[in-house]
Amino acid sequence: MDIELRGITKRFGEVVANSGVNLSIRAGEVLGLLGENGAGKSTMMNVLSGLYRPDEGEILIDGKPVQFNGPGDGIRAGIGMVHQHFMLVPVFTVAENVVLGVEPTGPLDSLDLKTARAQVREINETYGLEVDPDALIENLPVGIQQRVEIIKVLFRSADVLIFDEPTAVLTPQEVTDFFKIVRALREAGKALVFITHKLHEILEIADRINVLRAGQIVGECLPGEKTDLELAEMMVGRPVSLEVEKKPYEPGEVLLDVKDLTILREDDSLAVDDVSFSVRRHEVVGIAGVQGNGQSALVEALAGVHRIAGGTIAFEGKDITRASARARHQMGIAHIPEDRLKNGVVANFSIAENMVLNSYYDDRYSRGVMMDWNAVNERAAEYSAAFDVRTPSIFETVNHLSGGNQQKMVVAREMSRDTKLLIAAHPTRGLDVGSIEYIHSRLMDARDEGNAVLIVSSELDEVIALSDRILVMFKGKIVAQFGAGGRPADKNDIGLAMAGAAL
Ligand SMILES: Nc1ncnc2c1ncn2[C@@H]1O[C@H](COP(=O)(O)OP(=O)(O)O)[C@@H](O)[C@H]1O
Ligand SMILES: [Mg+2]
Repeated sequence: MDIELRGITKRFGEVVANSGVNLSIRAGEVLGLLGENGAGKSTMMNVLSGLYRPDEGEILIDGKPVQFNGPGDGIRAGIGMVHQHFMLVPVFTVAENVVLGVEPTGPLDSLDLKTARAQVREINETYGLEVDPDALIENLPVGIQQRVEIIKVLFRSADVLIFDEPTAVLTPQEVTDFFKIVRALREAGKALVFITHKLHEILEIADRINVLRAGQIVGECLPGEKTDLELAEMMVGRPVSLEVEKKPYEPGEVLLDVKDLTILREDDSLAVDDVSFSVRRHEVVGIAGVQGNGQSALVEALAGVHRIAGGTIAFEGKDITRASARARHQMGIAHIPEDRLKNGVVANFSIAENMVLNSYYDDRYSRGVMMDWNAVNERAAEYSAAFDVRTPSIFETVNHLSGGNQQKMVVAREMSRDTKLLIAAHPTRGLDVGSIEYIHSRLMDARDEGNAVLIVSSELDEVIALSDRILVMFKGKIVAQFGAGGRPADKNDIGLAMAGAAL
């Protein structure tokens, strides 16, 4: 099935999300779609899947114009959107989720679970998906849940599959497996749209690349024709540096000193097992590890939002093991949380309110019991501009921002004050190259100005580029150390340590 978008324009009030977009999607081909946060990629795909009605333009399927009047129309025409895991019902099995919402008309009329299970097995075999139809969703890792979403659209006979940033939630191994599936789908003649921020991914998997900027297609090319640097420039509209510029390593005194730290999960299993390390001023320490090896609990414990079972945390020589999150914040510890919706923002507050979420009691903003809203708004406008938070106004509620812009807002808030220790969990997750470049250079500034910086990231390239020293966590322990005169920070060796191999 071939698809043609012609002159698609989509507005949200004043915002023009798509402006006169022409795009073709072909059977047996992976179309890679690149664009910075807010470029209009998701909007375009939502138009294509029938969720949004375009204000102008038309969609043609195999040359014939079609009209979509609702979200069901896209899939009925064979266009399937592969959603992230949150569209699945956790307490249902794979097969139950797959049949959920299939309308009792047409060929799928007398659908029973037995038939569904058989069909899931068949889809499994055709595309090498290897998903147990009887497994409960809540017991499956994110990578497998994503395959269930793929099965869901294939079950509904989709010929066009749209993947909107599918790799954002995957580990490197899961990305490799995901690409195998994408190749199998392409072999089978499906038309595929793959959206990502990651240039190396698009260069690896796409047959053709379209770049979207500010709602318009600004270029089309083949992967062999452009380097990652050229693609980055097309995306952002200015030259971008993909390298981190780093001044020489001259560490100062120890600022954060962690001794024998032990942390339990909610179910009392060991998350962090007797870990000791320190971070000095003028130093970036990176924590590398496959997700689920204790990094999240460690960061939360350091920020004061996770209970500690044993050991001590000292900051500037003072014991802060029992100090509250607010007390730590006031001492100059900044925290960019991993889960911004849980620990970072109040989604139905405005950007301005969120910018002072953990400092509203500060003299700068409070006059006794009254808030100085002019000061708050001024500061919010300044931070938003500096970190390129794209929004119609600072009075917009945070849940109306795209994920990337929410992330920039949290980073702006945490980095735009006097800090001594910066704890950053996945600081650039979901961000485009332009924003990543900016945040990386701000992290380096923080180090050069004398901050101690602790970074956790699942992007190994990022950890290596930013860190002076790298600690590898595996099953709650620090199993290896790289850099700063010790073992060189070799990507392959770090990867092996992350997998638990003895070096
Ligand atoms: N439902 C919506 N209401 C208002 N504005 C929206 C909505 N969806 C997207 N936008 C705006 O449209 C623009 C494009 O967003 P989006 O398509 O999500 O970009 P991308 O997927 O490339 O990051 C952004 O400025 C975004 O804030
Ligand atoms: Mg998007």
